[in-house]
Amino acid sequence: MKVLVVGSGGREHALCWAIDKSPLCDKLYCAPGNAGIAQVSERVYIAADDVDALVAFAKEQAIDFVVVGPEAPLVAGLVDKLNAANIKAFGPTADAAIIEGSKAFMKDLCAKYDIPTAEYERFDECDAAKEYITRKHAPIVVKADGLAAGKGVILCRNENEAYAAIDHIMIERTYGGAGDEVIIEEFMRGEEASFFALVDGKTALPLVSAQDHKAVHDGDEGPNTGGMGAYTPAPVITPELAATVMETIINPTIKAMAAEGRPYKGVLYAGLMITKDGPKLLEYNARFGDPECQPMVMRLKSDLLEVLLAAAEQRLDKVKLEWHKDAALVVVMAADGYPGRYEKGSEIKGLDKAAKMKNVVVFHAGTEADGARITANGGRVLGVTARAKSVAEAQKKAYEAVDAIDWPEGFCRRDIGWRAIKR
Ligand code: AMP
Ligand code: GLY
Repeated sequence: MKVLVVGSGGREHALCWAIDKSPLCDKLYCAPGNAGIAQVSERVYIAADDVDALVAFAKEQAIDFVVVGPEAPLVAGLVDKLNAANIKAFGPTADAAIIEGSKAFMKDLCAKYDIPTAEYERFDECDAAKEYITRKHAPIVVKADGLAAGKGVILCRNENEAYAAIDHIMIERTYGGAGDEVIIEEFMRGEEASFFALVDGKTALPLVSAQDHKAVHDGDEGPNTGGMGAYTPAPVITPELAATVMETIINPTIKAMAAEGRPYKGVLYAGLMITKDGPKLLEYNARFGDPECQPMVMRLKSDLLEVLLAAAEQRLDKVKLEWHKDAALVVVMAADGYPGRYEKGSEIKGLDKAAKMKNVVVFHAGTEADGARITANGGRVLGVTARAKSVAEAQKKAYEAVDAIDWPEGFCRRDIGWRAIKR
């Protein structure tokens, strides 16, 4: 079959890498892709959020199956338009992707169907929001309702920070229309984990557990990023806890979405806080995590394409996923300055040397090819991923590969996996 993957990050490189290996895949395209993705697929120069151009391309090339990586085209209705053109796609329709697109929707769904999450209130008016903060006291969390590229969440240590957060979102309109409404919620304590399930509208199939490192510096210090590294399995998610998450969070959500007339298909990615009262939902994403996807596909033994097709065709009840027992870990290499301002265009060398190491894959995130040279073209640039017997061994191997890469303008954290290793 002819497959099109939409996106250009490390997540999409990992998806392409796995789909390319499937005997079901005759031809693989990726729009817009990156220099690494070009090694396993044909790049199509259409932006991931140019929904109409993507649909036109898929029709022209008689694409059989489209796998959508990022949230923006999902929320913009790419899957709806592909389905209307009789093209199969993996990912939720727009009215289901709202679970990521609107935090207010997600919180109201939790309240209506009794899904454990932080206590909250919604506001579209500043004064009422500030009164609520005064009443509830800090620490407290202020969130813009809509998509804000992962930045619309402000953790406030005191009331003044919380009042300032309201001004930032609602008066200064730092996140534009995403800040028409705010959600103010209880500050939860605990350890965070990412939980993923494949969903076909009725059946949810849990994937292996993973943990992401959002902060830019070692020791989880500094501002949050899209993710500086991740590993699987995450020991914080014991088998018992995974069962509880399925029973109290994921399965009730699938039922709730169906009952609301928004059946959910695709990956459901729950950001969890493991509190002393059990797992609680921080947020939902309508897609694979980036970079969590990279170590996850390295552990997957099953044919990824076959599994994603089964999700799109509502056959997940007949699928059993096979995984390597090994752990896997990704170290993200980012351009100096990220998540703030950074330069593009510096050359990356040594990629061949790293790629030759056994059970190591260097997934590209923000790269471009300039003749035979590979250059940096984004904030997060590479995802150096290794599989080994334990998280500690995967960490060692990933850093050996990182050290083989010669890119003076880049940096990475040196402690990815520390929570699992410390246990
Ligand atoms: P979100 O995008 O909603 O997952 O928020 C981004 C990050 O902010 C999360 O990964 C948590 O580290 C933190 N966070 C969000 N909501 C809360 C909360 N209610 N309590 C504590 N931390 C939170
Ligand atoms: N790694 C966090 C995310 O994909 O949102």
